[in-house]
Amino acid sequence: MSLDLEFVRAQFPAFSEPSLLGFAHFENAGGSFACRQVIDALQQFYTRTKVQPYYGFEPSRSAGLAMDRARTRWAAWLNVGTDEVHFGPSTSQNTFNLAQALRGYLRPGDEVVVTNQDHEANIGAWRRLAEAGMVLREWRVDPETAELETAGLEALLSERTRVVAFTHCSNIVGSINPVRHWCDLAHAAGALAIVDGVSWAPHGLPDVAALGADVYLFSLYKVYGPHLGVMVLARQWNEALPNQGHFFNAGKPAYRFTPAGPDHAQIAASNGVIDYFEAVHAHHFPGPEALPAEQARAVRELFRKAECARVQPLLDALRAKPGVRLIGRNDAAERAPTVSISVQGKRPEELAAALARQRIGVGNGNCYAWRLVEALGLPPEQGVLRMSLVHYTAKEEVQRLIEALDQVL
Ligand SMILES: Cc1ncc(COP(=O)(O)O)c(C=O)c1O
Repeated sequence: MSLDLEFVRAQFPAFSEPSLLGFAHFENAGGSFACRQVIDALQQFYTRTKVQPYYGFEPSRSAGLAMDRARTRWAAWLNVGTDEVHFGPSTSQNTFNLAQALRGYLRPGDEVVVTNQDHEANIGAWRRLAEAGMVLREWRVDPETAELETAGLEALLSERTRVVAFTHCSNIVGSINPVRHWCDLAHAAGALAIVDGVSWAPHGLPDVAALGADVYLFSLYKVYGPHLGVMVLARQWNEALPNQGHFFNAGKPAYRFTPAGPDHAQIAASNGVIDYFEAVHAHHFPGPEALPAEQARAVRELFRKAECARVQPLLDALRAKPGVRLIGRNDAAERAPTVSISVQGKRPEELAAALARQRIGVGNGNCYAWRLVEALGLPPEQGVLRMSLVHYTAKEEVQRLIEALDQVL
């Protein structure tokens, strides 16, 4: 079974939008296009149910029901409990809220392991715990390979370790980290495992229960949806950590770690992402409806196969170019299709501008993985050139990018 690209692209209004014709989107790791199901749901919410939700009158009741339905469906697709799904304004905000909770839970001298491979959202919030006496331990990447090695974690774990925070997949390196194994190691040391899934989730929703993470974070605006952060927080930790919301809501699991107050319309509109995934599943696997976690697995495999085929020629072309440093692995099967390079004698900003003139959108800079870029020996102010694909990227677009790179590199 292979991905029906025509079907998939027909679900994204951006591909038929006249002002975007000829534009090739290679900055998906920053923000993906939104699927039509999300845009429709947002429009419907604002048109029909834009009132305070959860009262008994219509349309308030319907607004609340749409929000509840989103929570239930996300939980089913991620294979976690409904009370374990939290919607916040962003992943950065979610980690800050959680860090605030940990500040009230941990004791001075407790140890927290952070990496230098992560986006700062999964580093800085935990580093600030040092202000309250917690001891930070940095798990560093190999400066040549940009990889985190398991031995590095093992050397840092002790009976004092309380938290281990790492990424499923770096937004620059792209390697798929062995999440289950590292969560098991953290748990064996008695620590909480916090996993940043932001760079992974667009490539297929994970089975969070199977990964074993206590906290799993991702951002819906990179997963074809609205600008929200999803935080899965294991029930036992919801109960153990101090409430960050209003005191009278302390007994409500969904209110305890999202004090900002949720964006009602966007939560309701996130149903559209699930609608999209369901449509992809139904189109490719007709027959009796499978369980959500099963659909998630099938869609994930479909996306992965398409993405690996798309990105391998780009990886091969870049690897062959003199003066180009390809960050991360050469084998598409071992990484997300987020590809970063640095080029001798050429600034990423200039290269991105040259590609932009050909209507090819790529990223440049440190992409907030400041510490990683620095560890790789690159100036963080300049960073890298980043080209990121998702399942809807067409073969012809990749070919166009490769040809454009031939001219500018
Ligand atoms: C890997 C990774 N983690 C975390 C974040 C932060 O997400 P948000 O923008 O939702 O705060 C990003 C954003 O680019 C990211 O790429």
